Amino acid sequence: MKKLLVIGATGNIGTAVIDALLAHSNKEEVQIVAGCRNIAKAKKNFATWHNQVQWLSMDLENTATFEEELSTTNCVFLLRPPHLADMKVFQPIIDLFVKNNIKEIVFLSVQGVEKSTIIPHYKIEQSIKQSDLKYVFIRPSYFMQNLTTELLADIKHKKAIVLPAGNAKFNWVDVQNIGEAIAEIIHNFAPYCNQAIEITGKENKNFESVATLLSGITGTNINYKSVNPFQFFFIKKKEGIPFGKILVLFMLHFIARFEPEPIISDNYTKITGNQPTLLAQFIARKKQHFIKGD
Ligand SMILES: NC(=O)c1ccc[n+]([C@@H]2O[C@H](COP(=O)([O-])OP(=O)(O)OC[C@H]3O[C@@H](n4cnc5c(N)ncnc54)[C@H](OP(=O)(O)O)[C@@H]3O)[C@@H](O)[C@H]2O)c1
Repeated sequence: MKKLLVIGATGNIGTAVIDALLAHSNKEEVQIVAGCRNIAKAKKNFATWHNQVQWLSMDLENTATFEEELSTTNCVFLLRPPHLADMKVFQPIIDLFVKNNIKEIVFLSVQGVEKSTIIPHYKIEQSIKQSDLKYVFIRPSYFMQNLTTELLADIKHKKAIVLPAGNAKFNWVDVQNIGEAIAEIIHNFAPYCNQAIEITGKENKNFESVATLLSGITGTNINYKSVNPFQFFFIKKKEGIPFGKILVLFMLHFIARFEPEPIISDNYTKITGNQPTLLAQFIARKKQHFIKGD
């Protein structure tokens, strides 16, 4: 039996991976260990499945909190929480995977990572490759769920999307689809071993057309306001957003202005046999979220 440690189990992707794994009830059994920092909070938030997994209170910044668990684990799903960027955090973790003879690592990276040697995911990928661990790198495009997380407050309260993204087009992927693809790969690792796999949706859209789509489906007029970098930092600082987070949001949205349109891949369909979610379907599924924010 596979014993899988899901790091970041309570986040967007971790939850989608666990949801998809639990839906695979007829496949080879996987024992899931859900890792996060606050188990009591997690059990409250994930009432539907909290008793179907084993929980592990762990902190990536303190390897002593999960070293013992790794001795009985053979497969790990690793992601980089957005606030952790330093290889001083990730190198000891990768060394521990090697020491404990972890057989399979699935690492959540990002589309286009191979062109940007300075981003933390690049360094993590390189370190995993050099370690001789067996890996799959998942490189997703831009999450549809950014609309229901980072961008939701502006959509609800300002009826606007306010970003320094200009006219840049993003490829929109549903986190649920990423979770489904990862679950398949965890069940059937060998054909994907030591590959980097882009997971994208079918649509490249700029924020102007996303705002139009949101307005049409929610019945509320939502505008896109493209701001310059100074305006963006000023607005977000005034909202009390920490500098590190503003920088991440800025990098994610501003740099795309100078890049070619994202590549659309059919890997999700090849891996799962399904068609990826369209942005209109996602917005319709989350319609109440945009209106009431529940
Ligand atoms: N947003 C996008 O469009 C996009 C696109 C491609 C790739 N990505 C990549 O996706 C990743 C983020 O994934 P996500 O959206 O699932 O993140 P998320 O929702 O912010 O979740 C982060 C998870 O990490 C856990 N965590 C945070 N600090 C931790 C620590 N010190 N030790 C252990 N666990 C910790 C959190 O759990 P607790 O807080 O409960 O401990 C949570 O489960 C990033 O690497 C990002 O670059 C994002």
